[in-house]
Parts: sequence; structure tokens; C-alpha cells
Amino acid sequence: MQEMKRIFVSDNDRQLAATFCEYFADLINGRINRIGFATLAISGGRTPDMIFSELSNNFQDSVNWQKLLVYWVDERCVPPDDPESNYGRAARLLIDNVEIIPDNVFRIMGEHPPPEEVRRYSELLRSNLIIKNDKPCFDLIMLGVGTDGHTASIFPGQEHLFSTGELVAASVNPATGSKRITLTGPLINNASNIAVIASGHEKKNVISSVLDETRNERIYPVQFVRPEHGSISWFLTRDTLPDQQVIPE
Ligand code: 6PG
Repeated sequence: MQEMKRIFVSDNDRQLAATFCEYFADLINGRINRIGFATLAISGGRTPDMIFSELSNNFQDSVNWQKLLVYWVDERCVPPDDPESNYGRAARLLIDNVEIIPDNVFRIMGEHPPPEEVRRYSELLRSNLIIKNDKPCFDLIMLGVGTDGHTASIFPGQEHLFSTGELVAASVNPATGSKRITLTGPLINNASNIAVIASGHEKKNVISSVLDETRNERIYPVQFVRPEHGSISWFLTRDTLPDQQVIPE
């Protein structure tokens, strides 16, 4: 089935954050109004920082935060108080600043031995989330894109994580050796809505390949993000686009 693919291009980070947060509020509130709650999985890295700050500063009263259940796309294998922790970053910039209920926050426990945490988080997702196509189905998954084309913590050379039968996996960032826990590709692609957010000219190469799949360069991991039944929306700043890029309708 042809996925619903939308591309939002912003002139700068501020506009990108504002555009995404309007999309976020509409989608999350709409889901809550329909079924009483919404499930979200968030990524780490720096890009979400501006999103979290915009949500904390300008969307405190625009989202039904108390009905939002928050999970993570990936986590570094560090304790929650480590500066590298994706959970720690999100807690400081968003969770502690809006009315998300602590019992509705389900962090990946990076301090646990990876095999144990992979099992625990898989079981948690399977018991907590709505099941679709025999896999947990998030209402919204927020993804970033690395300059090497990775997304979640699925790095070049780890594309098998897009065809595994597992829901969660352990991985390693080959550039830094940083151990990770990540949702796998089939779980990501089973979401009802996927939002990929990228800004910065350093991502132009990857985004160009995403926008023009005919480019016969390498296939980046983020290009394996293709929703099985849901929508995918790309939130990009103009400096990620190749020159004279025509945005496909
Ligand atoms: C992580 C993220 C990762 C991130 C990209 C982009 O834990 O690092 O989940 O997938 O989204 O690396 O990172 P930036 O937003 O910092 O460019």
C-alpha cells in the first residue's frame, strides 16, 4: 500500500520546531480524543532539543499531556543521569516541564545489561501497546537522522535490523563504540505515524538520497524507514535540501 508521505520544509530551526509542534499537538490530541490516550516514541540526539524546548515553552496548555504515554526509540547504555542519556535529556527539556504523568514515562534502562533490557523492553511494549500486524503499534514515532544516514540506533552495516523478527535490539555506534538499545525497523515501520526531523547542511547528502531515490549512491539506513500501513512526514530545514531541489508533491 502506498504510504502517505508528506514533506515540510522550513527556513530555519525555529520554524521547523514550530511546524513540527503544531503537527504533534494535532496528532496527539486527535488520538487522545478518539481513544483516550496516545503513545509516543522519541529519539535522542540534539535535534529533538529544539522540539522539546518549543513544546515546553509554547505547548504547555495545547497538548493533553496527562494522557500521553512516552517511550523511547533508542537509548545509550548509560545510567539516566549520564549526560549521554536520551531519557535524561528529554526529562530536563520536556518531561519535567509539562504535565506528563511519571507513571506514563517508560524509559529504556540503559544501565541494565543490554540483553536483559532488550528482553524487558520488548515485553513491556508488547504488553502495553495496541497490537497491529502482530506487532506493537505506536501512534507517533519521532526519528532523527545522523550524518551517516543512521536513524534510531540503526547504523550503516546494521540494516538487518530492518528485517529482524525482534522488536528491540542491542547495537553499537561504530564511530564511537557507544553501546545502544534500539527499536528495530519492523517495529518502527509498524507505527501509525512516523515523523523524521532533520536540520543542518551536514545532512544534505543523506536527505538528497531520501528525496531522490533514483540517485544510485549508497542506501542509508534511514531509507529503510517505510511505514507498513501508516504515514511518514519529513520535517526538514531548507539547508538539508540539495540546490534547486523540487519537493515532490
Ligand atoms: C541518538 C538518536 C539518533 C539521532 C541521530 C541524529 O540516540 O543519537 O536517537 O538516532 O536521532 O543521531 O542526531 P542529531 O539530532 O544530534 O543530529
